[in-house]
This record gives sequence, C-alpha cells and structure tokens, in this order.
Amino acid sequence: MRPGKTIVTIMKNKLTLILLTIWVLPAFAQKDYTKEVEALLSKMTLEEKIGQMTLYTSGWDVTGPTLNENYKADIRAGRCGNIFNAHTAKYNRDLQRIAVEETRLKIPLLFGYDVIHGHKTIYPIPLAEACSWDLELIEKSARLSAREAAASGLHWTFNPMVDIARDPRWGRIAEGTGEDPFLGALMGAAKVRGYQGTDLSDPYTLMACVKHFAAYGAAQAGRDYHTVDMSERELRQTYLPPYKAAIDAGAASVMTSFNEYDGVPATGSKFLMDKVLRQEWGFDGIIVTDYGSVAEMIPHGFAVNGKHAGELAANATVDMDMQSGVFQNNLKQSVEEGKVSMKTIDDAVRRVLLKKFELGLFDDPYRYSNEEREKQEVFSDEMMQHARDAGRKSIVLLKNEPFNGQKLLPLAKTTRNIALIGPLTEAPEDILGSWHASGDASKAVTLLSALQQAVPGAKIFHAQGCSTESDDRSGFEAALNAARQADVVIMAVGENYRQNGEAASRSDIGLPGAQQALLEEIYKLGKPVVVVVMAGRPLTIGWMDENIPAIVNAWHLGTMAGPAITDVLFGDYNPSGKLVITFPRNVGQIPIFYSMKNTGRPFNANDKYTSKYLDVANTPLYPFGYGLSYTSFKYSDLKVSKPVIGFGEKLQVEVTVKNTGDRAGEEVVQLYTRDLVGSVTRPVKELKGFQKINLKPGESEKVTFTLTSDDLRFYTQAMEYKAEPGDFKVFVGGSSADVLEVGFELK
Ligand code: GLC
Repeated sequence: MRPGKTIVTIMKNKLTLILLTIWVLPAFAQKDYTKEVEALLSKMTLEEKIGQMTLYTSGWDVTGPTLNENYKADIRAGRCGNIFNAHTAKYNRDLQRIAVEETRLKIPLLFGYDVIHGHKTIYPIPLAEACSWDLELIEKSARLSAREAAASGLHWTFNPMVDIARDPRWGRIAEGTGEDPFLGALMGAAKVRGYQGTDLSDPYTLMACVKHFAAYGAAQAGRDYHTVDMSERELRQTYLPPYKAAIDAGAASVMTSFNEYDGVPATGSKFLMDKVLRQEWGFDGIIVTDYGSVAEMIPHGFAVNGKHAGELAANATVDMDMQSGVFQNNLKQSVEEGKVSMKTIDDAVRRVLLKKFELGLFDDPYRYSNEEREKQEVFSDEMMQHARDAGRKSIVLLKNEPFNGQKLLPLAKTTRNIALIGPLTEAPEDILGSWHASGDASKAVTLLSALQQAVPGAKIFHAQGCSTESDDRSGFEAALNAARQADVVIMAVGENYRQNGEAASRSDIGLPGAQQALLEEIYKLGKPVVVVVMAGRPLTIGWMDENIPAIVNAWHLGTMAGPAITDVLFGDYNPSGKLVITFPRNVGQIPIFYSMKNTGRPFNANDKYTSKYLDVANTPLYPFGYGLSYTSFKYSDLKVSKPVIGFGEKLQVEVTVKNTGDRAGEEVVQLYTRDLVGSVTRPVKELKGFQKINLKPGESEKVTFTLTSDDLRFYTQAMEYKAEPGDFKVFVGGSSADVLEVGFELK
C-alpha cells in the first residue's frame, strides 16, 4: 500500500475515532447502575426506604411555610435521605458526613436548591432572559449556574420552571418563559442541557427538575395556588409541550405543582403523574412534590388525612415528599395495611438511588463539596461578564420617539447633567429579582453606580423620590430639584423583588406606590425623560406609553443589571429583545395573548355586535414578539416554495430582511402559521420558528425557514395529534402584530 495511502488511511481511522468519541461515547457516558441499586435496595429496611423518599429543608434558607427542626436527627436515623436549601461546600460537607459516617447504610444525601437564574452570580430573571430569544445564551446561563452551584455543594436544581403563563397578575410569571409553548419548549430544553450536560457525575453539572407539573401558570385570576380548570385539549396543546421538551432533553426529575387540574390536585393525580408522565412520555426519573403539597391535599378536600394523602401521592408514582413529612410518618403503616405496595415503594427508591449513583455520590459523597473549587468558581469573571451580556440582551426597547425633534436614545456620552430618579436607581437586592436564592446583593451593580462609570464626566443628580411600596411623597421635592438641574432625566421605576414571584400575585399591575404620581410630576417639568421599567411582570403603563418619549423595559436583570442598562442607554449595545409576554392595556383585558381564537364575531369597528369592549381596544399595549432597535428593519419578498404541499413534504419559506437604519443591529425574525379551518377552531397565529440575525446598516439577508405537516399538528376534535388538510397562512415579521403573509395548502 502506498505510504501516502497508509497515512491517509491512518488519518481517516483517527478521524473516525475522534468523531466516535465526540458523538457516540457521551450517549453511553451514563453507566448502568442497576446491579448496584438492586444490591443496596435488598439490604434496606422499609423505614430506610421511606427515608430515601423524604426531602426536608435545612434551616439555612427556608422557602415555604414549614420547617422541620429535627432534620439532622432524621438524617442520622436514616429517616431523611435528601435535603434542600442547604449550600456552601463546607455546610453540605458537614451534613453529608452525618449521612455517610453515622447511618447504617451510609447512603449519601442529595442536595437540592432553587438555582433559578444563577446561584451566587445572578442572571436576568427567566422572563427577561427569554426576551433575548437566544437559546445558546440561555443554555450558557444554566451551565454557568450549575458550575457555581455544583462548586457550592449542590447536586440538584429545582429548575427549569416551564409553566406557560398568560396572566401577568400571577407573580410567578417572572420565573418562566412567557405565553408561548413553542418558545417555552425550546428554552426549557436548553436549560436542561445547560444544567445537566451529558454526564451527571461531572462535578460541574446539576440534576435538573422540570416544574411545576402541570399547568400551574393557569391559576384562575392569576391568584397563586388557585384552581386550574381547562379542557384536556388545551392542557395538551398549550401547557404540556414545554414539560415534554424538557423531559425529552433528559431532565432527571419533575416537580408536582400545588394546583389541582380537572378537580384533582396534581400531587395525587394518576392522570398527570402516571398516565401522562410515566406511561405516555416514558419518564423514569424522580417525581418530587412541591413544598408540602402532599399534605395540602387535605385542605384541597381530596384527602381525609395525611396517611390518605400519602397513599394518593405514592400510588400516583410520586417518589419524594418535599417537606410535608407525610411519607415519613405514614407510609410504613400504609404498606403494612396493603394500601401501598412494597413494589411501589421499591420503584420509587430505585429511582432516587439511581440518580445518586449517576451523580457519582457513592464514588465520592464529597465530590461537590470542595472549598478550593468553590472559591475559584463563585463570581468568576466569566460569570460576571456573562451576567452583563445576558442582561443587555434581555432588555426590550418599548418606545423611542423624538423629543423636540430628536430621538432621546441612545443618550450621548457627552451629556453633562443627568438626573437619575426613582426607587430602583439604587436597589441592589431588587434588581436580583424575586427568586435570587443565594444571590449576593453586595455584588450587584446598581444603575446609579453603573451610570457613574458609564459617563464619568457627567454630573449626576440622584434622588429616589419615593419607594416602590408606600404612598409617601415627601421625597418628591428633592427629585424635582434634581430634574430641574439636568439636561436629561432617567427614571427607574417598577417593582421590588418581593412584589412578584411566589405568593406575590397583584390585582392591579400598575406602578406600585407613588411612582406614577412621581413620574407625572417629573413629566410636568418639560424635560426630556427616559423611563427604565424594572419589574418581574408586564406592567400596565398606558400613561407612560402616551406621554414619555423613551421607554426601556429592563425587568430584573441580576448582578450586572446596572451596566447592562447603561450599555443600552448609551448605545454600547443596540437593544434586540423581543417580548415573550403580551403587555395588556389594563387588567380588564386579561387574559390577552397573541395566539387567541378568532371567534364567530371578530371585532369590526363598524359593527356593534362584534367581540370587543366599550372602554378599551382589543389590542394589547405591546404585543408578543415586539421590541424596537436603534436601527430599523424592512421585511419584503415573503414567498413559499410551492402553493401546495403533501403530508411529509417540505415547504420552504423565504423572506428578505434589510437593515434600513444607520447602525448594526440584531433582529428576531419570527414565523407564525394559521390553520384557517380545523375540526376544532384554531388560533389566529402560532409561533413555529424564529431566527436571530445581525445586519450591518444597509445590509440585506434572505432568511429561510422549512415547514412540514408535522409543524401543523394539533389535537383534533377526536383528540388525535395530527395535521389536517386545508388552507394555511404563513406570517413572518419582527413582531406577532407586524407581519407579511402568504398562503399555502396542505393536501
Ligand atoms: C416553593 C416553590 C418551588 C420551589 C420549592 C422549594 O414553594 O413552589 O418552585 O422549588 O418550594 O423551594
């Protein structure tokens, strides 16, 4: 064989080997621990098995209404095999030592925590980060969060929260990715990949936990923990896809939700936990309840007492009882009475032990508790830079109209006198957002300090003016004085971190406290005003939209919120965020979302008898997918590759996008479809694709999408998940409300 050929052959073989290593091996990285699990299970007493089905909060950080002060004694007695709300390498090492040195079988503890958008370094709240429409960015945030948390003694995060929410009165809308199932599914899967990587025993990864199963975000009237009642079709069509996508991405666990669905509390629902999760989706990971939700089946009126509640949960294939102690105190008797089978117990314990083996805890129980590594990872430069990058990409520019003939944004860095006014100008804990867990507010960079750094030559007149809660207006005068001395006023208003998140629903989602009054007083001075809104939900800011020329929606952006905001205000970053949640004009419009039905009497201004309100338009203040840039984009030449496609055939959709402004910018090109006629009525639009592109001034790009009949599937009247033939529309644009359209037929 010619030497050259030999070399080529060797090179080819090496390349094959490399590709195999890259592509094939990770799929088998997870070792099979069946033998080890069965060997351990066979030694366990019933009490020890139930201990592995028990999860208690440590006293370090309590995230719910109850605390078991005896959790250390329970660990020592083998009555508690899992702990949450405990972290730092040292604290967890000390707790782990009790389990692996003082118990009979030395089974390591599992440590869980709510690492929702960062651990010590805090990234934008999930609702904000979703507005980046940047899946790589979202996955990276999860990956970096896992690095920091896994260095601090943690194995398991109670995230991603993928609850679809269409009611901004619900405080936990802050924790999710908005109103759309297509987007929610992609983002939930990205977070699972980020947290878990390809090998749970990697000491830089965390087990993910998809929550809250299911449909927790559909609480009636946006009131937290309230009843959820919808058709099975709506559940499967709108609310389940993100959970399914996260589980298909390999999520190791699922958390049950507090709410009932169809009259049955999720924690005891055989339909949700066994039929859908286990049987239909083949999920064989851990199902853990939410905080005390087993016992809450009693006030739900679904269980007569704790023992009955425990039997309902265990028989629904729930594996672990978070915090209620019901499994710990009742399951033994239930098994002895035959109300819960030993097989049910063994199946649950197998799933818990398997994850502990896969995490590598039996090889090295202290693998995640390394104080040296903790020092290196926490607040690393990479994490702080990513926090800033994620922050600015989460910002949505809502308005930027001329003031005295000149657009206010981006502000000139030569601006001499700037007034910075409002309760969120210097609010280090509030900018971390509602679920910042172990986030360190002392590291948060506020808007005030970032402004001083961004324009060191400017004179900054700072006044809070009022708080986010009280009606006290005694600070107004100082704020007005600051504004009078300025060439431009920047106001930072919105919610503090306690005014959204869990158990923080609001019936009025306007600016809380005296902020609106302060804004109107400042406005009367006639100065150019830029408003930065910082909140964990859409706010009803209609007056602001009518009167203020420049509005930046900056959510709660985390540790680097300040620099992220000034990067946008002064044009160091051209805002690219697009809303993933509709902003209503008022609470009366709620629920309002882009993919609504057309009804039999769609609104017609010339016809009284059509679907509308007498006192407000049907349209939202700002629609799903909306967000401005400092440049502008023009869409043209939308076309489809053919007017008719068959089932399984591909339809190419093409549009030209041009940057018609004077600076480079990113644009999220969105593709929606509409099924004009179905065996059940279909929404007027459904998101089916998007691409984030970057264009220089004057640059054009042809953006193409591919659709097949699979993308057009829905739950038909017969509850079959399939596409139906007929006419469709395709819409493409930079917002759900600003699109080009073209038709095609599926035959
Ligand atoms: C809370 C939340 C849940 C969280 C859990 C543990 O009540 O509902 O999202 O993961 O308790 O803190």
